[in-house]
Amino acid sequence: MSLYRSVKIGSLELDGNLFLAPVAGYTDRAFRSLCAEEGACFSFTELVSAEALYRSCGRYGLGETTGSTAAANLVRRGEKEKRYAIQLFGAQSESVYRAAALLSPLRPDALDINAGCPVPKVVKNGAGSALMKNPANLGKVVEAAVRASCESLGSVPVTVKIRSGWDSVSLNYAECARVAVEAGAQMVSLHPRTRAQNYGGKSDWSHIADLVSRLSVPVTGSGDLYTPEDALQMLKETGCTAVMFARGAMGNPFIFSAARSLLETGAWQSTPFSARIAVALRHLEMLSADIGERAACLEMRKQFCAYTKGFRGGAALRDKAVHAETIAEYRKIVEEAVGKSPDL
Ligand SMILES: Cc1cc2nc3c(=O)[nH]c(=O)nc-3n(C[C@H](O)[C@H](O)[C@H](O)COP(=O)(O)O)c2cc1C
Repeated sequence: MSLYRSVKIGSLELDGNLFLAPVAGYTDRAFRSLCAEEGACFSFTELVSAEALYRSCGRYGLGETTGSTAAANLVRRGEKEKRYAIQLFGAQSESVYRAAALLSPLRPDALDINAGCPVPKVVKNGAGSALMKNPANLGKVVEAAVRASCESLGSVPVTVKIRSGWDSVSLNYAECARVAVEAGAQMVSLHPRTRAQNYGGKSDWSHIADLVSRLSVPVTGSGDLYTPEDALQMLKETGCTAVMFARGAMGNPFIFSAARSLLETGAWQSTPFSARIAVALRHLEMLSADIGERAACLEMRKQFCAYTKGFRGGAALRDKAVHAETIAEYRKIVEEAVGKSPDL
């Protein structure tokens, strides 16, 4: 039987189990939309500060047209994004409640609570992975999100994303997941590295398998998913309901169609460079429509590195692209590269 399956998260039904993970600085709404086109069945905005959202948008709200601040732009649905969750971070349940209540004009399909971010400026305030040091507070934050969802968001499911624990001597993912589910979370995503590991070393998939055996809600696995085969292996090895691509999807929205093909047919085909680079240009144009051409061209530099990684001639292309300031300049650089080696 195929490992590609539909997923139910509370009342939310998803066509498949290949998700796009939240990746700050990369999973902007343009990119999420491109991934949805290629078959990402569910995606997450990058983490957004509940405090900042409330402070910047609390007064005038967050409608499609009024939300013009940076935080507001992060949380809008992508054009082709059928199903998406907005991810909030915060340590104060009241801030999370107020920020979540503001999201109703955007009609997210779920609300995700970040309990995994390792970044010092997030954890120093008790948010992100620091919530795992205080499971009781994690429970309060999740409860506040559930309350806001019931009152303002049509009772969309609240989900939570955790790590294995703070460090190797405090592996408390099972306790944190239990507390979150008791507080009303309807899915748990686990990135099985500790906060101390940051993004280094290897993720320990045995923690995902263990969590699957303990929870009655769906568990989504994250960690070291770089190829379609990795997704297949994680689904098989851990029994998780869904997998979420993170670094493996950067610059490669095609990983979703490839992974689906592998799960359904046992085979997949890689995407030629010309198609990949064409998507990079579309990404740039869509991003420019959202944040303006200049900002999009700057933002695109790191994304461009991801799109061209691993390709012959990619380094030369990247060297040129870091100086590009307009879409026309990007296009010229790309056309020259593809013109030189159309078979790439
Ligand atoms: C640059 C970067 C930014 C990330 N931003 C977020 C985030 O905003 N929210 C979140 O829950 N996880 C975030 N993550 C974690 C990923 O969602 C994922 O769990 C992690 O990268 C492990 O998957 P991978 O090894 O396949 O990349 C981020 C990871 C990276 C590398």
